[in-house]
Amino acid sequence: MSEQQGKMWSGRFREPLDPAFDHWQRSFRFDRQLLDDEVAASKAHALALEAAGVLTQDERSRISVALDQIAASGISEADAEDIHHFVEMKLVDALGDLGLKLHTGRSRNEQIATDLRLYIRFRIRVAIMHIAAWAQQLIEKAKTMGSAVMPSYTHLQRAEPVLVAHWLLAYVEMLLRDISRLEDCAKRLNFCPLGSGPIAGATLALDRNVAARELRFTAPTANSMDATSDRDFVLEYLNALTLVALHASRFAEEITLFSTAEFGFVDLPEAFSTGSSAMPQKKNPDLTELVRAKVGRVNGAAQAVVLQLKGLPLAYNKDLQETQEPVFTATTAMHLTLNLLAKFTAALNFRTDRMRAACQTGFMNAMAAATYLVHKGVPFRKAHEKIGNAVRYCLDKGCELDQLTLNELKQFGPEFEQDFFAAITLEATLDCHDVLGGTARHRVQEALKDAEGRVQNLIDIYGKVDLGAQEASHAGA
Ligand code: ARG
Repeated sequence: MSEQQGKMWSGRFREPLDPAFDHWQRSFRFDRQLLDDEVAASKAHALALEAAGVLTQDERSRISVALDQIAASGISEADAEDIHHFVEMKLVDALGDLGLKLHTGRSRNEQIATDLRLYIRFRIRVAIMHIAAWAQQLIEKAKTMGSAVMPSYTHLQRAEPVLVAHWLLAYVEMLLRDISRLEDCAKRLNFCPLGSGPIAGATLALDRNVAARELRFTAPTANSMDATSDRDFVLEYLNALTLVALHASRFAEEITLFSTAEFGFVDLPEAFSTGSSAMPQKKNPDLTELVRAKVGRVNGAAQAVVLQLKGLPLAYNKDLQETQEPVFTATTAMHLTLNLLAKFTAALNFRTDRMRAACQTGFMNAMAAATYLVHKGVPFRKAHEKIGNAVRYCLDKGCELDQLTLNELKQFGPEFEQDFFAAITLEATLDCHDVLGGTARHRVQEALKDAEGRVQNLIDIYGKVDLGAQEASHAGA
């Protein structure tokens, strides 16, 4: 009798495993998160076995019912090596030897490849819903901002005034790209490894389309060696999440900066800030600081997987087990972060008075002033020079361009007329950027409507079913 009884591979062993090694090599403490996926994949395999005549219809349906019960009861402590072992043990508890039949014609190597695809496919949906919900809050905030203005920056030096809505919509664009990257990843991973066996393909004549169809995969994977060793989708997913985290970090940094007394553009919502145990006056931007740092965790996960996959020979290697934890860590981190960002964005209170005041000094209308001269027929290079001279003059005098008299202006060029002053007001400065994607007020109105439509579209696609219901049926998601 083998010492390894109760394991899935005991037959050939005579000596017990070293207990520390045994504990260490197991994955059950983390792959338990794959329970629903393991059950869905097992039910699909049972259907393929029935189609192949290995299980009767009655056996198959008893297996399916028992598997559903296992999923419904959830994880319990068990002496299981991994989630595959756990489900098999539970199935044998429920059905005796019939439970052992399910492993006919399959291998854990194809199971884990399938489970991970199902897990990530569903978490992509959840991530997309979270991203869309955050984008929606950014859009809502942009709407309430109306024609509020703020300085924009290049090199972190004041550049030109923009609508606050224009700035917020910049983040919406980033998020829409993030969603399309995740959708792309979901498309490419949507192939079913079941039937690949441990490496060379199942030794039963399974119709692989049966399981693929049941799990709503596009098709079975084409090569068994690739299917059991491929984790490209893991890396693609983590890289896509890295970009989400990166965009979140840029937003977080801007808000952190804008909440300083030096900027004073944002009042941090108290519900999302903390105080200092030492300095009684403090309100600290902990939320945005933590969000800024999360990309380290998420990209760390992606880096870990790169290094785990590098140089791996075909096909399955136990190294691949190590790719799971980075997926779980990054997924949880991003779902929680995005959820908070949506709430935080809704609670943000912009100091539009301070933002407007910041636009009124520092010659932020200089581009508009040069453009005025261009409309009077001055080549831009020369216009740039003339306005540059006027700015220099103002700097010495300690005033802004709109405080110069027409006579003073004429020293820099005969083209200046009385209408110059109307061309460099804050509103005119915005509206002269009248191009698609520019900050002219009517352009931003259009952009707002357009972005709202695109986000609503995504919410219609991904957000119809509530999250709880989706959790329950995510193998079909
Ligand atoms: N827990 C394993 C993993 O995640 C399952 C596959 C085990 N396969 C094997 N040949 N030992 O990689």
